[in-house]
Amino acid sequence: MQDKYIYIKTFGCQMNVHDSEQIAELMKDQGYRVTDDEKRADLVIVNTCSIRAKAEQKAYSTLGRFRRMKEDNPSMIIGVGGCLAQQLGTKFFKKLPYLDLVFGTHNIHRLPELVRTVERTGDRVSETTFHETVPSLGIVTPPSNGNICSFVTIMQGCNNFCAFCVVPYLRGREESRLPDAIIEEIRCLTDNDIREVTLLGQNVNSYGKTLPDDVDFSQLLRKIADIDGVRRIRFTTSHPKDLSESLVACFADIDKLCKHIHLPVQSGSDNILKKMNRHYTVDDYLDKVDKLRKACPEISLSTDIIVGFPGETEKDFQKTIDLMEKVRFDSSFSFKYSRRLGTAAAGFDNHVPEDAKAKRLSILQSLQERHMIASNQACVGTVEHVLVEGYSKNSQADIMGRTGSNKIVNFTGDIEKVGTIVPVKIQKAYTHSLRGELLTRKGDERC
Ligand code: SAH
Ligand code: SF4
Ligand code: F3S
Repeated sequence: MQDKYIYIKTFGCQMNVHDSEQIAELMKDQGYRVTDDEKRADLVIVNTCSIRAKAEQKAYSTLGRFRRMKEDNPSMIIGVGGCLAQQLGTKFFKKLPYLDLVFGTHNIHRLPELVRTVERTGDRVSETTFHETVPSLGIVTPPSNGNICSFVTIMQGCNNFCAFCVVPYLRGREESRLPDAIIEEIRCLTDNDIREVTLLGQNVNSYGKTLPDDVDFSQLLRKIADIDGVRRIRFTTSHPKDLSESLVACFADIDKLCKHIHLPVQSGSDNILKKMNRHYTVDDYLDKVDKLRKACPEISLSTDIIVGFPGETEKDFQKTIDLMEKVRFDSSFSFKYSRRLGTAAAGFDNHVPEDAKAKRLSILQSLQERHMIASNQACVGTVEHVLVEGYSKNSQADIMGRTGSNKIVNFTGDIEKVGTIVPVKIQKAYTHSLRGELLTRKGDERC
């Protein structure tokens, strides 16, 4: 049988990236090989995000490109998945009549069957049913791409309903996977050369709340750390309101846990945090940062910030800047507030004009850049332990990896070092990466 090719374009968060990896594995079993060349594709999947208007626009512009390709190659199947697909369902066919397939966030496991239906009948197919127990949570995909890092979904959905956010509407209610299923998946990954796992959930700190057994996130971390093949553990994302003392303790005493936490603060104004429905104050947040830094002084902190939430005044914005000066995040993702239909904030008064949002974002990002450079410069002269991931993006003469604190380090070395943790002396700091020198060429433990 002739090979068929699938081209996957992914937008959005790490959950979507992981969903796309699962799609590739599922379709491989159906005889589809992944291609980077979209023109060669028999099946195109656009995995969409709708967290902000910009994310949606990107998906539409990509899909527009495929309309022209489909005109040249009518047998090409075009499918749309992810959060925008979940939101629009069959309405997507009205907007873009050349689409063949729409599948929602709870229906990835059904993709092979849905594609077969399109192939057999030529009909359009849409499946966006929400399931109480998300079947795709059980999909285990041993890596086949030579990677040493892997995502592991530990929970789906979200119950928090932050006033600005569409995720709970598009990913459904929170559901944790059973610890045994997670452990089994990670064992399978480490048997296949995975050394670093990133545990995924919209709010990993509430892991376990939907499970019958009494198990929380810190207990899960300890179980995972006991797996021999695991060298490093990361996780994302943590909601500040649920960050527990027992999780803080994990940073002090689990060696394999990377000393980095992504803790989205969203705003530095109590008034705005309340309207956002975040359930913590600035003081609560600073107190948690304090506890984390006391337990683990070298911990690196990153965050998400929204500027221009409805009702945000210049004074509120200044409070966000003050908070950034106090915490000095190692990195941050910052966004202009984007009105999302169906969310509480969409109906709030006093939406902030676009030009004010843009100005605030630019002030905030310049400050963050200064903090990031300072944080990277503080590494110069130190020895960092780097898990080697592969060739450097810029040059195949160099290799790259990440520090426990999640900084990218490029250095000259042998590609054979992939999968090992090596000491690198940091020589130079850039805004988004470090450059260093490999300290030893023998004695590195091959893991
Ligand atoms: N579950 C994660 C966040 C997922 S969305 C958490 O709670 O931390 C990632 C980030 O997108 C959010 O932290 C927020 O900063 C941003 N975001 C979400 N909705 C947004 C909106 N309507 N406008 C602008 N930014 C938004
Ligand atoms: Fe969205 Fe809030 Fe849930 Fe994060 S915790 S996914 S920001 S509703
Ligand atoms: Fe986007 Fe959905 Fe993730 S809206 S950020 S792809 S959960």
